[in-house]
Amino acid sequence: MEELLKLKEHDEARQGEAYAPFAMDPNHYKKHFYIESYGCQMNFSDSEIVASILNQHGFGATRNVEEADLVLLNTCSIREKAEQTVRRRLGDFQQVKQSKPGLLIGVLGCMAERLKSKFLEEEKLVDMVVGPDAYRSLPALIEEAETGQKAVNVLLSRDETYADISPVRLDSNGVSAFVSIMRGCNNMCAFCVVPFTRGRERSRDALSIVAECQNLFERGFKEVTLLGQNVDSYYYVSDSNEVVNFAQLLERVALISPELRIRFSTSHPKDITDDVLHTMAKYENICKYIHLPVQSGSTRILQLMNRTYTREWYMAKVDRIREIMPDCGISSDIIAGFCTETEEDHQDTLSIMDHSKYDMSYMFFYSERPGTLAQRRYKDDIPDEVKKRRLQEIVDKQGKLSFASNKQDLGKTFKVLIEGNSKKSDKDWMGRNSQNKVIVFSKDETNLKKGDYAFVTVTDCTQATLIGKLISQ
Ligand code: 5AD
Ligand code: SF4
Repeated sequence: MEELLKLKEHDEARQGEAYAPFAMDPNHYKKHFYIESYGCQMNFSDSEIVASILNQHGFGATRNVEEADLVLLNTCSIREKAEQTVRRRLGDFQQVKQSKPGLLIGVLGCMAERLKSKFLEEEKLVDMVVGPDAYRSLPALIEEAETGQKAVNVLLSRDETYADISPVRLDSNGVSAFVSIMRGCNNMCAFCVVPFTRGRERSRDALSIVAECQNLFERGFKEVTLLGQNVDSYYYVSDSNEVVNFAQLLERVALISPELRIRFSTSHPKDITDDVLHTMAKYENICKYIHLPVQSGSTRILQLMNRTYTREWYMAKVDRIREIMPDCGISSDIIAGFCTETEEDHQDTLSIMDHSKYDMSYMFFYSERPGTLAQRRYKDDIPDEVKKRRLQEIVDKQGKLSFASNKQDLGKTFKVLIEGNSKKSDKDWMGRNSQNKVIVFSKDETNLKKGDYAFVTVTDCTQATLIGKLISQ
């Protein structure tokens, strides 16, 4: 299965990445924390909030576990495999703790919320269990744990958005940053544990979002990704009763500067409006890329999943996007082998992929999660071999679609934001076009640098990457 999923360029590729923190001289602090993040972008963004809270309370970040007084794992529960990875990692820390008895180990995020104090029984070395809405209490919980007691706070909130906390950009390339615009989810997709681990949906104060983006731009950042489980239902009502919806928020951020690119994730097909699409079309700096998870191409399965749209409705939404923005990139999340899925349902998924012509997809086989609607109502009745075979067919289909989409770009010229050296060679730059496609091109004799825009003509491609030639700066 590992192999199967290599194709997808998913957040999970970053799983377990330790942050390279050092916003401030690490020697400035007497105590240090080490943090690893797993799962979605929201978790990586939350770790930056945690870092800020800990910095305020005298903890500097370190990349070296040996140097840490506190080890934190920001965890994910979305699939069973994600939880297994965290448990294995905790096993690694067992040894570190043996050689350093005062070391505190904390579990943050969705697994902490799902398992609550049960975590302390299951994993004896854990000292703290802290849910996603309880990070402000971390300093108090650390104090409690330092006295030898186990510390737990998994209270979910209806209004916590950490709006006033200025995240410490930990693993930053200095070019692009995540900005959280809302928390939680009200959607109750039958397979998903997120509504239980992240609570009710709430939108962050629009002024604080714009101020954070403005500040990032002033510090040299060139791209912000507005994050939420369901960004299209962003809806903020200020104290003076002024309403800001997602289209309006997008516009406000776009107006900061034409030099600042805006991305967002994730969109729910049922909520993305024409208003949002027209706002995207209106501003060159709002990237022409939408992550629009379909999950399944079968209306019957979509209904069981509680996605609240049909196959036809989804296809019409894709058509509408292409009508308003013919050059818009579209990607998806797809689940193979949901409860009762027949071969016909699976064929519907393959054919909706053809219709949508996704540039990229994150593809999973269904993993039953405790407490979800699906776990309570349906039987996880598709055998593993069938799930894996169907997933492989979906992966193969996506490979062909990605390659076809990349081949369509041959000869085209794109404005590319340079993110850094290409992975393979420091003689090449790596950047992205508006459609979120990775483009690699030779540095040549130019004096371009990370964070600059360049115009690049596509001369070749693979399934995953465009290869280009610089035409001008
Ligand atoms: N099993 C498999 N995939 C899941 N996802 C969410 N829950 C599950 C599950 N139980 C996938 C969905 C979602 C993405 C973030 O993870 O495709 O969009
Ligand atoms: Fe989960 Fe659905 Fe909410 Fe996404 S929209 S977080 S899949 S419940």
